[in-house]
Amino acid sequence: MLTRPRRNRKSESIRSMVRENSVHAGQLIYPLFLVDGKKIKSEVKSLPGNFRWSPDTVLPEIEACLKLGLTNFVLFPAIDEKLKDKKAAYSYSKHNFYLKLISTIKKEFPETCLVSDVAMDPYSSDGHDGYVEKGKILNDKTLPILAKMAVAQADAGIDIVGPSDMMDGRVAYLRNALDEKGHSEVSIMSYTAKYASAFYGPFRDALDSAPKKGDKKTYQMDPANKIEALREAGLDESEGADFLMVKPALHYLDVIHTLKSNTALPIAAYHVSGECAMLTAACKNGWLNYEKAMPETLLSIKRAGADVILTYFAKDFARLTKK
Ligand code: PBG
Repeated sequence: MLTRPRRNRKSESIRSMVRENSVHAGQLIYPLFLVDGKKIKSEVKSLPGNFRWSPDTVLPEIEACLKLGLTNFVLFPAIDEKLKDKKAAYSYSKHNFYLKLISTIKKEFPETCLVSDVAMDPYSSDGHDGYVEKGKILNDKTLPILAKMAVAQADAGIDIVGPSDMMDGRVAYLRNALDEKGHSEVSIMSYTAKYASAFYGPFRDALDSAPKKGDKKTYQMDPANKIEALREAGLDESEGADFLMVKPALHYLDVIHTLKSNTALPIAAYHVSGECAMLTAACKNGWLNYEKAMPETLLSIKRAGADVILTYFAKDFARLTKK
């Protein structure tokens, strides 16, 4: 035998030399659910190990993450039902605790990179990402609302805005609105190929943000489509996006690979709540080993072509690799 691939696997030093992909904490973004109030740390039942944090409890949590080398966070607000309305007005209100908290975090920990969520659903009495009239999600009436939300987040000090709404034309609309208000340095991480997926369940539990009527299929993508993701990617790129995102990640590794092969922009992949919950459940049952299966899962997303991974396992991964 002339060729024996096993020779390159014979020791950890050799395996390490020929390793093609790796994940480190600097490539991860940790999602945090935020709620107004004091001394709150309430676990999301369908996503064990993840909590809704009030402003006073989230600060020490962020400090602990920084000590582990985890600097990137995507922040989602859980809004009191009483503050929700058809136009998501609280999303850009001066009284919005989420906006105030962004400023506090940036002041306390300027080394963090904070990513927002731009979509109406946590603030909307309809529970949809866009403005609803007679049961329809109206694209062009949603754009100005998203722009107000994004500018308010930029005013508060956000580093990256993350439009997750899937309205047409929103990246250009947000770019123009941000630039007009002097926020040309704020980046846009666009949820480019966001699918109408069944794997967002625990997230909607965490924020109590499920649609009151209907589903999201008229704006989020059909899980059967891949070529269409290229169309969305072309648009987002031409409209000025700084990152293209694929969401979910694990069940869409082929889409990650296709986008990575067709753009020079960095690709982000959202390892969503339902995908994380599946692994957590199997590990809690003793069916899989968390410390082995979790890093392998993140590696698979990296190998598919993701530069950045949004994952609820970010803190555990950072802790594990620090050991
Ligand atoms: C809101 C939004 C959702 C997620 C991120 N931003 C839910 C949805 O579109 O219904 C899901 C993230 C996850 O499941 O972890 N537009």
